[in-house]
Amino acid sequence: MSIPILECRDLSKTFSGPPRLFHRTSQVTAVDRISLQVRAGETLAIVGESGSGKSTLGRLLLRLLTASQGDVFYQGEAITQASGARLNQLRRELQIIFQDPFASLNPRMNVESIVGEPLWLHESLSREARRERVHELLRTVGLPAAWAQRYPHEFSGGQRQRIGIARALASGPKLLLGDEPVSALDVSVQAQVVNLLEGLKQQFGLTLIIVAHGLAVIRHMSDRVAVMYLGQIVELASVEEIFDAPLHPYTQALIASAPQLQPGASRTVPMLQGDLPNPAAPPSGCRFHTRCPWATDECRRLEPINQILPGGRQVACHRWQEINRDRSVITLAPPSANFLRRRALFERAVTLNSVEK
Ligand SMILES: Nc1ncnc2c1ncn2[C@@H]1O[C@H](COP(=O)(O)OP(=O)(O)OP(=O)(O)O)[C@@H](O)[C@H]1O
Ligand code: SF4
Ligand SMILES: [Mg+2]
Repeated sequence: MSIPILECRDLSKTFSGPPRLFHRTSQVTAVDRISLQVRAGETLAIVGESGSGKSTLGRLLLRLLTASQGDVFYQGEAITQASGARLNQLRRELQIIFQDPFASLNPRMNVESIVGEPLWLHESLSREARRERVHELLRTVGLPAAWAQRYPHEFSGGQRQRIGIARALASGPKLLLGDEPVSALDVSVQAQVVNLLEGLKQQFGLTLIIVAHGLAVIRHMSDRVAVMYLGQIVELASVEEIFDAPLHPYTQALIASAPQLQPGASRTVPMLQGDLPNPAAPPSGCRFHTRCPWATDECRRLEPINQILPGGRQVACHRWQEINRDRSVITLAPPSANFLRRRALFERAVTLNSVEK
């Protein structure tokens, strides 16, 4: 099997909250022991409610944030501690497109300077060559080259997002991360930007990671989907598996809560109830247990281990087989020795803990 373009192992990021008088500083583990592989040439979507840690995970993978724990690999090379010239090189190859195209563009710079800035920083091109390259990039994203002298306020939201994409392309990236790249745009413009990203992916052989709330966007453009809940990935599968046969109760509820995906369909799965718990004090055991209609005592006590099923899809739920008994013919491969060992150690730790109390 080929080496993933990006990979993380046991990756965590903990943030300290603001100090409060007479209180200990609260800490939020925004990303909690995530292992994930991104395959070259795929579009991987990361979904989950607001605050689930999607942006933090994306920024850790691109080395825009430094991990508290765990490792990140780029084409097999450990980059967790990369710095200096190597980090600059990584910044060129791993680019990000932001949600708000207006806030991410400097209002005092014209388009030629905005799109051409990475060329200044990374390439020793003549002024003329740089101008020609900017024009070419503008044409690539569907904007007339003649608009290079205009300023961000002269453009619509969709056009500004195209400028942001042209800038991201300027340094010749291998991977683009779109953090909610279309959610600030009108629905009619969203489709145009999604189509542009898909076209660029083919044209330049890019890998895409798309962070998004909008399940319709994800369904349209991704190959695989990682579903996040309170800092962890609870399910990872192909886009067809996620939308046609989701296994995790959280994924099922997310999809049931998006009526635009199934107009007129009768609901067999409960919609998502309640709010996301406080990320600074996540529930014990399975973090979803406070909202899960299937929760048992085991769920409240024991954290489910991520199970890898034949074909590679992953699910972290104690009861996924029972819950989906009537829905599919998926069978679980025999648990590995490592899985059984970790499970036994975990059970033992929980038992010892409760005996000591
Ligand atoms: N710089 C920071 N300092 C402190 N806490 C942070 C910081 N960045 C993120 N967090 C916290 O980490 C958690 C995850 O945040 P993150 O922005 O990654 O979530 P998200 O899934 O991208 O949410 P959204 O969909 O709203 O963008 C949240 O509880 C957030 O408050
Ligand atoms: S482990 Fe239990 S609480 Fe968590 S999703 Fe599965 S059934 Fe629900
Ligand atoms: Mg975010």
